[in-house]
Amino acid sequence: MKNITVLDHPLIQHKISLMRDVNTGSKEFRELVSETSTLMCYEALRDLPVKQVDVQTPLGISSTQVLSGVKLALVPMLRGGLGMTDGMAEMIPAAKVGHIGTFRDPDTTNAVDYYCKLPYDIADREVILADIMLATGVTAVKAVSKLKEAGVKKIRFICLIAHAQGIEAINEAHPDVEIFCGAVDNDIDEKGYIVPGFGDAGYRMFGTK
Ligand code: URA
Repeated sequence: MKNITVLDHPLIQHKISLMRDVNTGSKEFRELVSETSTLMCYEALRDLPVKQVDVQTPLGISSTQVLSGVKLALVPMLRGGLGMTDGMAEMIPAAKVGHIGTFRDPDTTNAVDYYCKLPYDIADREVILADIMLATGVTAVKAVSKLKEAGVKKIRFICLIAHAQGIEAINEAHPDVEIFCGAVDNDIDEKGYIVPGFGDAGYRMFGTK
């Protein structure tokens, strides 16, 4: 595994532990997903470029830093990434938002696209692609390909829990994509769910299968 950063900040770890708890209901789960996504977005953007500027304070001139104009887009993957969008947007309110829907066909295990709506200027933006879980990586690899087909050059992938299979799938297909996660769990079951993980993230968040 190469391009993977596990965000081990205690606040992120604490919130993920609360989400893992089977007794955490949908309302609290959604709130935790959003709060954790804010923190993860903050950590994943540590390398944003800055430039030096002089700012007049009430008492003098400060030579200080501001962001140097990188344009960003958030692209949640349906449905899991939806709950991450508002939390991430708190950190980067000027980011535009696209959506990608792909599912893993259980018979062929191939990724099938069913939705893609991206900002018209996506090629000029650095993208944060987001999903709650990175399990087999089949859909994430496809989503990254779609972004690249649209001209995106820099992609960060953020997920709350990952499995080695998904990390390796992205690393192999798209070695330039940086992956950020809160935890790497050990197993995947026959349905493609990460174990111990969160279970069915869509169900935990929205209460629907
Ligand atoms: N999707 C889920 O909802 N849960 C997982 O563990 C993996 C994929």
